[in-house]
Amino acid sequence: MPAAVSASTSPPSVDPTAALDSALRTAIAAVTGLPVGESDPHIRPSGNPQFGDFQANFAMALAKKLGANPRQLATDVLARAELTGIADKAEIAGPGFVNIHLASSALAAALDAFDSPALGITPTTATYAVTVDLCGVNVAKQMHVGHLRATIIGDTIARVHERLGRKVWRENHLGDWGLPIAMTLAALRRAGTNLDSLTLDDLNRAYRAAQMEGRDDAAGMIAAQATRVGPHRIAELEAQNTGAALAQEDARATLVRLQSGDAQLVTEWQKIIDCTMKEVFESAAVLGVQLTDEHSRGESFFRERLGPAVEAFAKSGLGVEDDGAIVVRYPDRERPMLIRKRDGGFLYATTDLAACKFRVQDLKSDRVVYVVDARQRDHFKDVFDAIRMIGWNKLPDGTEAELIHVPFGSVLGADKKPLKTRSGENFTLKALLDEAIERGIREVRARASDPNAPTAGMSDADLAAIGSAVGIAAVKYADLGSDVTRDYVFDLDRMVSFEGDTGPYLQYAHARMASILGKALDAAAHAPPRPTISVAEPAERQLALTLLRYPQIVREVAQHLDPSRLCAYLHGLATSYNGFYQQCPVLKCEDQALRASRLRLCAISKHVMKDGLGLLGITAPERM
Ligand code: ARG
Repeated sequence: MPAAVSASTSPPSVDPTAALDSALRTAIAAVTGLPVGESDPHIRPSGNPQFGDFQANFAMALAKKLGANPRQLATDVLARAELTGIADKAEIAGPGFVNIHLASSALAAALDAFDSPALGITPTTATYAVTVDLCGVNVAKQMHVGHLRATIIGDTIARVHERLGRKVWRENHLGDWGLPIAMTLAALRRAGTNLDSLTLDDLNRAYRAAQMEGRDDAAGMIAAQATRVGPHRIAELEAQNTGAALAQEDARATLVRLQSGDAQLVTEWQKIIDCTMKEVFESAAVLGVQLTDEHSRGESFFRERLGPAVEAFAKSGLGVEDDGAIVVRYPDRERPMLIRKRDGGFLYATTDLAACKFRVQDLKSDRVVYVVDARQRDHFKDVFDAIRMIGWNKLPDGTEAELIHVPFGSVLGADKKPLKTRSGENFTLKALLDEAIERGIREVRARASDPNAPTAGMSDADLAAIGSAVGIAAVKYADLGSDVTRDYVFDLDRMVSFEGDTGPYLQYAHARMASILGKALDAAAHAPPRPTISVAEPAERQLALTLLRYPQIVREVAQHLDPSRLCAYLHGLATSYNGFYQQCPVLKCEDQALRASRLRLCAISKHVMKDGLGLLGITAPERM
């Protein structure tokens, strides 16, 4: 809506560029004769605060289009633009850039409007929901560091969409069906394990033993590798393409009985799931991730839908027979996708076809986001293309859902190889979190031993609580802060540090904001509830501009499914706050009105920091 915004009639916007955009747009339209809708002034934050807060970059492209001189065009627009009360200074630089210093009063008004529980984030009105496929553990296996990424990146993406007012379905696509779990079940039965006192260690041992038994059949593996189907499908085939070993026969028979609903086996199967999920939910709680039983719609949920899915593909001609099996072929590549084996068995891919259809058509999601290891890239490409070919991405109103794989990289050890324990085992998630918490507690205790520390004299239990929050923040921030698609090196020493680009650094910045507000409480009791904001000093302006960018950042994180943007923003906020804190006395400020204004800047900074950390699922202790 390009109508002119006049400060006196519209409520103040939290976007400091809204009035500026409107004033320049009107002037561009008047000078060029273009419609207001085509007169975008192209306002961007300035690269260097010395030259101004924002740049308007309309002149070059527009002048080219109109055959005019860009500097002259910029000059004419500025002469026409009504910027009083909006900008203090607007200057033309270089070939026709316009550098703008916002009026402090405009900045203060925007910040005053921003200071509300919503922090300038207006809920979107969307017809459909968002599905986030996260965690994806396999039953009977310990969660490992890969699941850490699938869980916390997924949780942040879910939280950000919820913050924007979207309905979110968190879908934990558990590997709880098929031969691997039947193998485990069969092995447990042979060993006579009492399933009522089952531990995850028992389960793991049985799982691994069952896998080793299956390894014997090298021929099946060679056949699988020859089709170059990617590691996940090889692993699946590794478990499935096995020969005559007795254990395999036993597993197969167990699977058939389980799949036909044998009551005894189903009860035992449920016990294995309960045992696995108990630890998954414990780890989720430790990680501050919203993941409970209601989010567990595993592979088994789709079992009745696999046959119909394959039939639909066969009927439409997209699923074709190949040596007794059914495959989907693609016009642009040789690799087919196997959806039914010769023996009638279904595959991981078949389940994903049924699940994707369910998410779009039953859960009514116009965005389905899969937070899964990058090594499954080909798998998701195949699944998504097949879904589009058959049209299962269509929503009731005919629009198409976005199907997106967020392919995350691996967590590496100091040797740049996948993270292993000292004894060469895969790091379980639990072991990793235990170690991070222990390190966090050690760090917090050491700091508290300084008599001047804000935490000096706190009880051991309180210090331990802060320490675990620090340890978890360290791990989560390091993970969420790097480009998701990249591998990263797991380095606890760096991650738990209170300095640098770390989670604890942000928590500490938040605690310092809390501490200054705590110290000022007495005085604040006598101050007006919403003291007038003044942003005169450069450091105050810098902080105000940073704060006001928050809603845009949250929208960008959702749009690009990129939590690292939020991490970088919060780190920038801590830096702007530090600059403000060093250059502008707060508690010692003599001018009471200015002191109140600065305290309010501290309070808004604290609010944004806490809200942003909350979107990362990181807690913000009041004292550190
Ligand atoms: N269980 C799978 C694995 O560990 C991950 C599941 C991911 N989600 C999906 N819809 N395929 O590899």
